[in-house]
This record gives sequence, C-alpha cells and structure tokens, in this order.
Amino acid sequence: MGIYILGIAGASGAPYARRVLEQMLLAGHEVKAVITDAGRKVLEVEEDLVLTGNTEADTPGVLEWAQASSFASNFEMYHHKDVASPIASGSFAVDGMAVVPCSGGTIGRISHGISNGLLERAADVCMKERRKLVLVPREMPLSLIHLRNMTAVTEAGAIVLPASPGFYHKPTSISDLIDMVAGRILASLGIESSVMKPWLGPEASSYSDSEQGKS
Ligand SMILES: Cc1cc2nc3c(=O)[nH]c(=O)nc-3n(C[C@H](O)[C@H](O)[C@H](O)COP(=O)(O)O)c2cc1C
Repeated sequence: MGIYILGIAGASGAPYARRVLEQMLLAGHEVKAVITDAGRKVLEVEEDLVLTGNTEADTPGVLEWAQASSFASNFEMYHHKDVASPIASGSFAVDGMAVVPCSGGTIGRISHGISNGLLERAADVCMKERRKLVLVPREMPLSLIHLRNMTAVTEAGAIVLPASPGFYHKPTSISDLIDMVAGRILASLGIESSVMKPWLGPEASSYSDSEQGKS
C-alpha cells in the first residue's frame, strides 16, 4: 500500500477533498494531510467542518468528515507551518501528492518555488523528486497569470486537473459530480477506486444506475 499526501488549500471545492481522502483510506493507503489557514476557512464555509489548527485535536473531526473514522491508524495531519515534518523532506518517500482544492495563490507559490508553508514545500519536494503531483484548481475565469503558473507547474512535471466534472455520465446528484472529479484525481495518482467510472460509450450505465459512493 502507498503513502499519499493530501493538501487542502483555500479554494472552493472542499467536497472533492472529502471524497479523495475517504477513497485513499478505504483503498488501504496511508494519508498525510496538510491544510492551509484559508483551507480551514473554506472547510468551515462549505462543509461546516470547524478546525482549530491543532492537528491532533482536529484529526478525529477530519476522519469523521471523510466517513473514515476506522482508518485512524493510516491517517496523520501536519500543521501548515510545521516545515520540520517528514513530508518536508525528499528523504521521506511518498507515492504522490494531490492538492484538492488548490487556490490560485498556492499554484502561484508552487510554480515559483516559494514554499511559505508545508503544503508548498511538500509539493516542491514531489516535483524535485519526480513524484506524482496533482493540483486541482477550481477558479473561473482564468487570468493570464493563472495560465502561466499552470503551464510552469506542468512543465515541471505536475498534473493540473481542474475541478470540471463532465456531464456525459448523466449525473443526477451533487455526489455524482464530486465522484467524477475525485475519481480522476485518484486515477491520476494511480489509485484504483469505485468512484472512477470510465466512459464505455453512450449505451453504458450512468452514475444513477449504480450503488456507488453517495454523500
Ligand atoms: C469560501 C471561499 C472560497 C474561495 N474560493 C477560492 C477559489 O476557488 N480559488 C482561489 O484561488 N481562491 C479562493 N478563495 C480565496 C483564497 O482562500 C485566498 O486567496 C487565500 O489567501 C488562499 O490561501 P492558500 O493558498 O494559502 O490556501 C476562497 C476563499 C473563501 C473564503
């Protein structure tokens, strides 16, 4: 089983992070999480998840939020300012990292190698060690600066995976839309999940025909 870093920055899209965390843990992987201050704010606004910033105290709430309380032994949270944590070093091997959601500010800092905190440092490490890094922005529209920063991180080996759910699977709920984005994030990291639904042509079943992951 692998070790994955989940960064949560202050962009809209907290439900995607919830599903990705749930599925990583369900698949038996270890997850190291880091949340920026703005990320905590967005979790509060979008998911009613109020975190204190004390990672030890926050851990049960995050696991409950992800409906993954029974996976506590595989989950660890680090504070964004804890740049001495293992994920700040390339010597600590991980299988990949996703930043879900990823703010324009965080992409800007990652693309310029400006590691103000642990999230950017861990992303910086993934790129220098040639490990998988998936960044999930939600922004619209995009400025030229956003586009240039996305180009720079792509050139450096990261995958920019915008939170843009498709409609060809005929989603019937918000959960279906979340699954479509979360499934692509997990697949980009090489993680198999039940929420990844490949397109098998127009005759194949839609999300609504299956039993999978409803929130
Ligand atoms: C509810 C809410 C939604 C936000 N959505 C976005 C967003 O989608 N994209 C973005 O770049 N910033 C968004 N912001 C603003 C960022 O949180 C802000 O720029 C912050 O400084 C980013 O910090 P971080 O990159 O350290 O997480 C949002 C803020 C709030 C409170």
